[in-house]
Amino acid sequence: MNVMVTGGAGYIGSHTVRELENNGHQVLVLDNLSRGHQAAVAETFLIEGDTSDRELLKQLFTDFEIDAVMHFAASSQVGESVRLPSDYYQNNLVNGLNLMNAMLESRVRHLVFSSTAAVYGEPREVPIPEAHPTNPTNPYGATKLALEGAMRWYGEAYGLRWTSLRYFNAAGADPAGDIGEDHTPETHLIPLVLKVALGELPHLEVYGNDYATPDGTCVRDYIHVNDLAQAHVLALDALADGAPPSAYNLGNGSGYSVLEVIRTAEEVVGKTLPVKFAARRPGDPAMLVAGSDKIKSELGWQPAYPGLKDIIETAWRWHLGHPRGFEK
Ligand SMILES: NC(=O)c1ccc[n+]([C@@H]2O[C@H](COP(=O)([O-])OP(=O)(O)OC[C@H]3O[C@@H](n4cnc5c(N)ncnc54)[C@H](O)[C@@H]3O)[C@@H](O)[C@H]2O)c1
Repeated sequence: MNVMVTGGAGYIGSHTVRELENNGHQVLVLDNLSRGHQAAVAETFLIEGDTSDRELLKQLFTDFEIDAVMHFAASSQVGESVRLPSDYYQNNLVNGLNLMNAMLESRVRHLVFSSTAAVYGEPREVPIPEAHPTNPTNPYGATKLALEGAMRWYGEAYGLRWTSLRYFNAAGADPAGDIGEDHTPETHLIPLVLKVALGELPHLEVYGNDYATPDGTCVRDYIHVNDLAQAHVLALDALADGAPPSAYNLGNGSGYSVLEVIRTAEEVVGKTLPVKFAARRPGDPAMLVAGSDKIKSELGWQPAYPGLKDIIETAWRWHLGHPRGFEK
């Protein structure tokens, strides 16, 4: 299929572009490069543009005979979203609606959307099933949930065919070592730990050690970025085969505390890493673990990297080769 990947120069988008191309799809990346890197998609056709530009979108849909869109482009930092909700509603909801409207006008009917565990808010049960109530505790999660809601109604009224993938904590890098995670600022635990290992940061700040978890630090479910990429290709194939609209969780189903992540990273890098404890961050749930049975049974998804150590090893290979990230 001819697939437009919005945000394809970003972390998860660039890994998915590679997986799409490995599976015979033709890819067009649309990215404004606000947070992405041209070098992450060096071999792929990249248009530098914004999802707010309806005329550009329609032009690209026609010129490249686009069959489907994978929509990664978004603002995705929880803390920033609390400070700047207007930016988040604009980029994640308004620009997302603009994209969907352009798709309808150009008769592009298939959409795979990057959603998030943040749609659930504070969990009432773990592992969290898709049927869990959605009650986001920050604007980031709220904007993702709002776009999911629009997708549902666009599906019913206009025949939009969509799949929403609710990722838990994306981590790791392509084992080839040439693309990986490079956010500015970096807020994700594993790259921060590895930056401490590289001497780029003096120590790791751990936010809260008094949660109701076995060691007091927050527990999260880490999923390898290539396993996310695989899920996108499966979702696209299923949509092409007529699968109904659906939302799926994506995680490994095992929770690791912040301290367990640090200990595992220490094993991978072969040294002890300095840690400082700081106050809890508001809105951080104690434990987020995915129930991902639905995507396994309905789409046949199986993670290739179920273990944390294997995930961190791939991230380490990327960071060792690119201690300051991409060149551009
Ligand atoms: N990283 C995670 O753990 C995680 C977890 C859950 C959900 N997600 C979601 O997955 C998606 C990708 O996350 P990521 O970590 O790869 O983020 P990222 O910041 O690396 O990638 C996002 C890309 O979108 C581009 N972009 C942003 N706004 C744009 C716009 N208006 N027009 C065109 N391009 C635009 C950025 O330049 C960037 O390249 C996001 O939607 C994010 O909310 C990520």
